[in-house]
Amino acid sequence: MNVHALALAKAHRFDEQTSAFAGDVIDDLSQHPKRLSPKYFYDSAGSELFEQITQLPEYYPTRTELGILRDRGGAISANIPHGAALVEFGAGATTKVRLLLNECAVGAYVPVDISGDFLKMQADALRRDFPALDVYPVTADFSAPFALPDAIAAMPKVGFFPGSTLGNFEPHEACAFLRSARDILGEGAQMVIGVDLEKDERVLYEAYNDAAGVTARFNLNVLNRINRELGGNFDTGAFTHRAIYNRERHRIEMHLISRKAQTVRLLGRSFSFRAGESIHTESSYKYSLERFRALARGSGWTPRESWTDGARMFSVHALVASD
Ligand code: AVJ
Repeated sequence: MNVHALALAKAHRFDEQTSAFAGDVIDDLSQHPKRLSPKYFYDSAGSELFEQITQLPEYYPTRTELGILRDRGGAISANIPHGAALVEFGAGATTKVRLLLNECAVGAYVPVDISGDFLKMQADALRRDFPALDVYPVTADFSAPFALPDAIAAMPKVGFFPGSTLGNFEPHEACAFLRSARDILGEGAQMVIGVDLEKDERVLYEAYNDAAGVTARFNLNVLNRINRELGGNFDTGAFTHRAIYNRERHRIEMHLISRKAQTVRLLGRSFSFRAGESIHTESSYKYSLERFRALARGSGWTPRESWTDGARMFSVHALVASD
């Protein structure tokens, strides 16, 4: 917890998670340019909107990755040792991991997620469908170091990080995450990771500017969350969604643009916006196969194999921990 968060926890009787959210929001809206972390998109309304995004005709990543896992599941699982512990970083819906669990005799499944309640529901459903599988949910922010359950200490470890969530990290953060995953999983570990690929800019643009406006609602929802959980007074109608492809940096950027000069109050502070001023709410980095492999090599992993769909929209990589 940062200094703000500690003081806020005391003053507002916030729980630990809300205090961390409050501290981050105050810090991030005090930056120039202003920003907010994409990890705060996912309250229950935001998770529901993201579910809707994954069904949009323009949003190809989820269905393309599922297709790769379905079509190439055998090959992807071929090197996963019998009785391995599968550690999923940021476990949302279990649709993707089920495709791997169907293909190999995994001994334990360890979903790691910040949302404990959701995690427990998913774990129960998996236990019903895979009675032989031991499920050990860990409630933690996977972008920081955490401890694995003692019960899996002796098992071979395989990390699973689908959904191109890695794309939300700045390149130096992606490197730090991969290094930390390597430390957490230990020597001899493997990793299966889903990474969105660079492609026609039109296709990228449409995926984050859908005709139905769901992505816009998803982006704006973070302001509702701030209002609800932190007592902010954002007028969500006074901001617009903007998503652009930044070619030099290989990333989609999502912004919330202030439609007018305005001042917003939250937690006893005020934040002023110029007309047209942006809050940078998300970066979604896109990789080439080779740029991702180079990142992995520089972060403690040796690329073993990569799989893509026929149109080379999305990639799944198997990595082995380097000595
Ligand atoms: C969950 C981070 C992979 O970057 O495509 C979807 C989130 N943002 N539409 C992405 C998202 C806007 C998504 N990731």
